[in-house]
Amino acid sequence: MKPGLPPLDLLIRGALLATDSGVYEADTGVRAGRIALIAGPGEARALVGEATRIIDARGLVALPGAIDSHIHPEGQWGSVSISGDFATATGAALIGGTTTVISFCEPVPGETAIECITSRKKQAAKAVADYAFHFAFTEDYGPQLQCLDRIVEEGITSFKAFTCYGGLTLDRGELLEVMTAVRGAGVLMIHAEAVDVLEAAARRLVAAGQVSPYHHAVSRPNLAEHLAVRDAILLQKEARAGICIAHASTRQAVEEAREAQRQAGGVYVETCPHYLHFTDEVMRKDAGALFVMSPPLRSGADIEALWQGISDGTVTIISTDHCPYPKAAKLTPKEFPAIPNGVGGIQTRFTFMYSEGCVKRGLALERLVAVAGSNPAKVFGLYPMKGCLEPGSDADIVLLDPKQTWTFTARDLVSGEDHSIYEGMDFTGRVRFTISRGEVVVDEGVLTAASGRGRFLPRKRRPV
Ligand code: URP
Ligand code: ZN
Repeated sequence: MKPGLPPLDLLIRGALLATDSGVYEADTGVRAGRIALIAGPGEARALVGEATRIIDARGLVALPGAIDSHIHPEGQWGSVSISGDFATATGAALIGGTTTVISFCEPVPGETAIECITSRKKQAAKAVADYAFHFAFTEDYGPQLQCLDRIVEEGITSFKAFTCYGGLTLDRGELLEVMTAVRGAGVLMIHAEAVDVLEAAARRLVAAGQVSPYHHAVSRPNLAEHLAVRDAILLQKEARAGICIAHASTRQAVEEAREAQRQAGGVYVETCPHYLHFTDEVMRKDAGALFVMSPPLRSGADIEALWQGISDGTVTIISTDHCPYPKAAKLTPKEFPAIPNGVGGIQTRFTFMYSEGCVKRGLALERLVAVAGSNPAKVFGLYPMKGCLEPGSDADIVLLDPKQTWTFTARDLVSGEDHSIYEGMDFTGRVRFTISRGEVVVDEGVLTAASGRGRFLPRKRRPV
């Protein structure tokens, strides 16, 4: 040991370190849960002496622990429960290289904002990865806005609003009111699909007996997302707020956001792996109901526009909108309006993005780091504690074997799901180690995290 310096808890030797601004070979030293030093390959030991554990990471890529800023553990679609819970979803997150998640506090009718936050914090206490919450406004948003300061005191400084869904729909005037109110606190995510277009289309299709899973996609056309995104951007300019278009799925959403970003700041875009891979054609097949989510899957042209948006920086964040339901619950309904909306993906997101993005499409590692971790940390107020590989940051690190090829099967999920839309997919690149606050919580692919080790991450007010 060097005089005056306690030994490192962990030394990661010789990985290719990827940040959102560069890629270089380095040693990474970890002490007391934080990154203690980044040094040239082979230099760390000379600088600080011994380490309790050394991982020889030559040939591996080290990236900031990923952040999945849109997940829905422990919720309901009518009487159907989402598969898994905070413990299993966050365990799956760690296996897949995600060390921080952000879920939602969405009050049910009759529940106050603070009651909801208290009960979500209780539910999440069993999480094994670190977590935060967005507060989701409902149609009863008046009393919720009145206690905005209390919500912020609870450490919640990002928000969500919906332009569709029973009990959640805000019209344009209401959305403007919410945006204006939260702009002093943090960013507002928006589920943007024009409810009037959706409802008219669904009425017409159901009346005509066109109720197959594929008609779910027909009932939610690109136009619905386009109109709602355009409205949200116009309102954002008026309110001078920060917004994040949740799970953008269309070329039109990307184009509107690109133009808004060119003119001024404050418009962020999130998309999800399923919108980057599957077209709505999969919903015509047997078991097409397994692919029902909102917004729906789109066309090949939309997929290309989203990938382009990721490469050029228009798309800010890749999250999962992880919201899996049991296979039987997805397949049982006879008509699309009754199919529970949502799919899983928390365990595969990071590998998917590396394999489909970096390996197949030549996406720069820096962009992967940005959309999977650094950007969500910056947009939602967790940076540089999270999403960052710098001395002083939490030692949340993923070590990925970039060459390993493997075939994914839902049998390997630890998330409590009984199926996956990614079943049988071939990937290049696999997470070998996940380190969370300095603790090796996935060791050679094996989850070792103890229940409840995840920590709630309170965030401070961030005026936009
Ligand atoms: O189909 C989806 N996306 N289900 C989850 C709820 C939401 O809209 O985020
Ligand atoms: Zn969602």
